[in-house]
Amino acid sequence: MPAPTILLPHDPFSERRTDPHYSAEARLVRGLGGDTALVDHDALLAGRAVHAVRLVPAGLGPVWYRGWMLPVEAYAAFGRALADRGCQLLTTPAGYAAAHELPGWYRTFEGATPDSVWLPAGSGSVTLGALEQAAGQLGGSGPAIVKDFVKSRKHEWEEACFIPELADLPAVARVVRRFVELQGEFLAGGVVLRRFHAFAGATEPGGGARVAEARVWWMDGEPVLTGPHPDTPGVLPEPDLAAVRPLVRALGCRFVTTDLALRADGGGWMVVEVGDGQVSDLPRGTEVSALFASLIAA
Ligand SMILES: Nc1ncnc2c1ncn2[C@@H]1O[C@H](COP(=O)(O)OP(=O)(O)O)[C@@H](O)[C@H]1O
Ligand SMILES: [Mg+2]
Repeated sequence: MPAPTILLPHDPFSERRTDPHYSAEARLVRGLGGDTALVDHDALLAGRAVHAVRLVPAGLGPVWYRGWMLPVEAYAAFGRALADRGCQLLTTPAGYAAAHELPGWYRTFEGATPDSVWLPAGSGSVTLGALEQAAGQLGGSGPAIVKDFVKSRKHEWEEACFIPELADLPAVARVVRRFVELQGEFLAGGVVLRRFHAFAGATEPGGGARVAEARVWWMDGEPVLTGPHPDTPGVLPEPDLAAVRPLVRALGCRFVTTDLALRADGGGWMVVEVGDGQVSDLPRGTEVSALFASLIAA
């Protein structure tokens, strides 16, 4: 089988150039002897997958994507449009959904990740009754956080992320509804409530977003790169991966990331979130050749 080609988004202003956010990755791949091709991210988001892959040479065979996050439906359409050109995404649409959206990976990581429940986020579905039931499933009291199937609004921590007390239903509703409002049309899937844990590095619950996480990149169940989380590029924790490795293997996706944080109460490392490796951001200033070498050797 030929070596996989790495597909990257093109510059929104020039379809001949790599998006500046990914140009260092493109250079790295080519420096390692790998091939790259460009795709149109805006067209993928707009539901125009066939147009989006017009610059991908036909018959490339296996491909990985490295680019901005895509909704699962857009990724599925991307895969079909590529297949029509004789190119196979090495992460299937089902695999992408499993790693990218919390309900896809949660059961596999249950116990190693904060307890979580989710509800649909359609207009009017975040009722007090639904929130009470969800809070009850998390034990009914104590702090929590809200996010959607993919992202939180951690930069609006007090207003739209952190829930100080699940038993205070009006306050739960205020934070969750503000989250839904701010996500707007970009809300992915539904609303997730997760039990809050104090992680090492945080000074207080409100400091959760300053936790120093480790982002571990896995290829075929092996850790190929452990780096800082992109939000804290200067802090490199050294997580113990013994408990996480079998869970990543059980998930069965070839290329994923896990963000790990150390519980402040001595409970060990927890998986804060799982991600598809194709759309996880790399920390600045970390040596990532090994990661790309394993991608083009896959
Ligand atoms: N259950 C939790 N307990 C404590 N802190 C959390 C919890 N979930 C998330 N956080 C904090 O909020 C941040 C954002 O949450 P995360 O699930 O990683 O969403 P995002 O996709 O927006 O990065 C995390 O980096 C972590 O610092
Ligand atoms: Mg995160």
